[in-house]
This record gives sequence, structure tokens and C-alpha cells, in this order.
Amino acid sequence: MNKPQQPQGLQKLLTKEPATVIVRVDFNVPIDNGKILDDYRIQIALPTIKQLLEHKFNIILLSHLGRPKNREPEYSLKPVAEHLQNLLNQPVTFANSPQQLQQKTTPRIILLENTRFEPGETKGSFELAARWKNLARYYVNEAFSASHRKHTSVYHLPLLFKTSSKFLGLHFQIELAHANTILSGTGKLYVILGGAKIKDKLPLINQLLNKADKVFICGAIANTFLKAAGYEIGNSYHEPEMITTAGELLSKFNNTIVLPEHVKVKTPDHQILEKHISQISTQDSIIDTGTSTISTWHQDLSQASRIFWNGPPGKYEDPDCREATHVLVKTLDELARKGIHVIVGGGDTSAALKSVYNPKNFSGFISSGGGAMLELIANGTLPGLEALTKSETPVMNQ
Ligand code: 3PG
Repeated sequence: MNKPQQPQGLQKLLTKEPATVIVRVDFNVPIDNGKILDDYRIQIALPTIKQLLEHKFNIILLSHLGRPKNREPEYSLKPVAEHLQNLLNQPVTFANSPQQLQQKTTPRIILLENTRFEPGETKGSFELAARWKNLARYYVNEAFSASHRKHTSVYHLPLLFKTSSKFLGLHFQIELAHANTILSGTGKLYVILGGAKIKDKLPLINQLLNKADKVFICGAIANTFLKAAGYEIGNSYHEPEMITTAGELLSKFNNTIVLPEHVKVKTPDHQILEKHISQISTQDSIIDTGTSTISTWHQDLSQASRIFWNGPPGKYEDPDCREATHVLVKTLDELARKGIHVIVGGGDTSAALKSVYNPKNFSGFISSGGGAMLELIANGTLPGLEALTKSETPVMNQ
């Protein structure tokens, strides 16, 4: 497997004359009525921010928040600026736009408003990139979890900087080091793939099937595969338009794909039962992977040297559907303690883990980015990484 290209780390920037630096962070955190519910993504950017401040750099932070259609106030980063100010115990200036910034003397640390309030951000606009570029001499990517997006602040903006002027943040380096262990390690690579939608992940699933020694399929995506394999799945959620594709994957990768043999179903009279996949009735709904299946997989998984888990095995949001998640997390924790390199893809997968386990006690690595880690392991690189190792003459009017 190819190792991703290695851009220069933040440490190199700290040896340079202090100047203004743009740091792309991922402060896409859950906020309710102005209250930040989980600040993990802010916390992981603090070492980079603090190092830059200690070395007398002025910082302009760029981040997106949610998927706004317009400038809806609930997607404003203002509460994040206030939270960051408390964490750093020093003023953080919140600015609505780069134009507003240019009229002022540069404060030590500025957070610009949600990058997705700029219409060019998700379209990959070099014009917007050039406006941001004018604000700083250097660029740092500390937004691992957003680096699978070919968006302006992640991709087009760093392309405008010389390769000697752009750097990888400290937390991003940790994510990359873990991904590299999976990508360039030896020994068996086993992937556990859950979640709801095959369609969204299809190209990545293909890549993983080509790379991994075994792919254990669970969660709602398994229902579509079970249907394709000819099993009755009753009223279970599945993707009818993906049944043919799932069938093709099963034939092509029949030595690689492992499907669950037991699932937990809700019966028409609201009982929750673990059943063999040959026993599902037309009125049942699959809600979780069977715990006996996870226990069987435990023996297989202990043969791996590297394990990557992406996607919950059940509807973990419902306490009745968390048992497989619990057994899987305990299994992975035990295997990580025995020396197997375990990576848990972020987002939904780490939320599932946290619903059953204290993440501080988990011995594997919990990535901050589900989509980004999945794409990095499947493709070997990310747009945000590529943009740090090459420069490009912009094509304007985009
Ligand atoms: C995430 O939460 O996965 C990242 O912040 C990317 O957000 P997006 O899926 O809205 O691009």
C-alpha cells in the first residue's frame, strides 16, 4: 500500500521569523442555542495554536460549521470564538469577513466567520482563495477531519502558497502517523464496515475490498448484502437500488467479505430477538448485529495486525440496539491491548463507541474524522494533504 505524501510539519514553521499564519481548523462542533455540547475538535487544535502563539505568530483561524444554505445565524462560529477565548485565556477576535479584517490592525488571534457562509467555499473558488491568501504569509492545515473535502479553504487556498510556506498541524500529524501504520504495516489488515449507506461509500468500499484481507460487514449496510445473497430481511432498512451492486461485490470478493450470521430483530409483537439470518420472517426488522456474530468475529480479528473500524453495527442511538456495539468495542479494546493496531473512524463510529464505553479507557486510536480517515485509508491520500505538497497556478472565475 502507498504511504501518503509527507508534507512538512508545524515544527519547521516554528523555526521561521514570526508572521501571520492562516490555520485551517475543523471547529465543526455540535452547538445548541449557543452552547457547545462537545469541544473535542477545539481541544485537539490547541497545541498547534499555543505553539504558534508562543513563537509570536499572529493567527487567523478558518473553519466551517455545519452545512448552511445561507448565512443562517445558528451556523455562526461566534460561540466557538467565545469558547476558544476561555480555553486560551486570551482575546480571540471574531471577524465576519476578510474585508472587515483588513481595516483593522492585526490582533494575535482571529477566528473568521464560517467559511461556508462564503458562496465560493464549497465550489472551490480560487478567487476566494486569493482573498484569504492576501491575509497571511503561511498556511497550516490542522483540519484532518475536513481534509477529504476539496473545498477552497482546505484545497485551493493552500495551493496558492509555495510548498515551503505550508505545514501540517500537530494533531493532523498524529492522525497521519496512525493511518500510515495501517497503510504501510505488514500482517493482515481487517476492516469492519458498518453504518447505513453503501451508496455514499461505494468507491471507498471498492478500494477497501482491494486492500484488506477481510472486510466484516455489519450495521444497516449488511441488510442490503444479505438481501443480495438471497436472505429474507423482512421490513429491515436497506437500499434496493444497491442490491445488484452488493451482489456483484459478493461474487467478486467472496473470500474477503464476511457477513453476519446472526442479527437482532424487532418482531411484529415488539419483541427483540437474536436470530440466525436464515430465520428472519417477513415481518421482522433488523436493528442490530447479533452478539454471537461479533463473538465469532473476535477469533478472526485476533489474527489481524491492523484493524480499521468505520460505521456502527446497529442503531446505537437507541439503547435497545447497542449490544453489538458494546461487544465490538470491548473486543477491539482487548485486541488493541494485545498489540494489534486499531483505528476507529471518527464521527458516527466514535459516537457509537462513546455510547457504550469511556473513550479514555479505550486502547485503540479514535480518529477525529470518520469520512477523512475512511478516505485516507481507502485512497492513501486526501485533497487537504495533496495541497500541501504541490502548488498550482490558479484558474480564476471559478
Ligand atoms: C465532519 O464533521 O465530518 C467534518 O467537519 C466535515 O464536515 P462535512 O461532512 O459537512 O463536510
